Amino acid sequence: MHRYLKLASGLFSWTLRIVCAGHLGAQYLCEFTETRGESMLPTLQARHDFVYANRTHRLGRGLDMGDIVVAVKPSDPDHNVCKRISGMPGDVILVDPSSSSTVSNSVSTCERNDGFNKFVVVPEGHVWVTGDNLSHSLDSRSYMWLPMGLIKGKVSAAASLDQGLFDKDGKFWFFNLRWLKRNFEDEP
Ligand SMILES: *[C@@H]1O[C@H](CO)[C@@H](O)[C@H](O)[C@H]1NC(C)=O
Ligand SMILES: *[C@@H]1O[C@H](CO)[C@@H](O)[C@H](O)[C@H]1NC(C)=O
Repeated sequence: MHRYLKLASGLFSWTLRIVCAGHLGAQYLCEFTETRGESMLPTLQARHDFVYANRTHRLGRGLDMGDIVVAVKPSDPDHNVCKRISGMPGDVILVDPSSSSTVSNSVSTCERNDGFNKFVVVPEGHVWVTGDNLSHSLDSRSYMWLPMGLIKGKVSAAASLDQGLFDKDGKFWFFNLRWLKRNFEDEP
């Protein structure tokens, strides 16, 4: 089983490498490294998932609430983060509603408490990002707004390298390849 998995994931990774090296290369940023971490559960697995990002949307172009992005990690330029946009420029955000302290915008109260339970306005050229698994995500709630300049692309698909070519019922499902959609729509 393990050998099959290695072979299958190797094949898949190479197929994508070739596709990306071809005419799609200019348009796509291809992430081959596994996404690691629980922060985007259940949308992305904690391991063995890789994502496929559309570079047309780099620097935040044409992005909106609910889009998933790959961006340079603000605290570490050698690493990327994969998060969902949960606030656009000008939006008023309650930093961390799960925080135990009472809501306050007074600096002294924030200093006395943990400082998270306050409202902020996302500045122009920035977005607010959070992981889908709020209890296991390091995101805007700790590093505040993300400059759009750090956004490398919009994640439009994901696949799971540990899933194989067929599902439990023997149906072809190609590593659970799936499109990831914006999960937020404004009221019409
Ligand atoms: C968040 O991650 C933890 C740790 O892996 C996991 O137990 C929990 O089920 C996850 N939450 C969601 C919503 O998937
Ligand atoms: C990439 O994004 C652009 C702009 O939204 C869109 O026109 C194009 O179809 C996207 N490519 C894919 C394959 O999703």
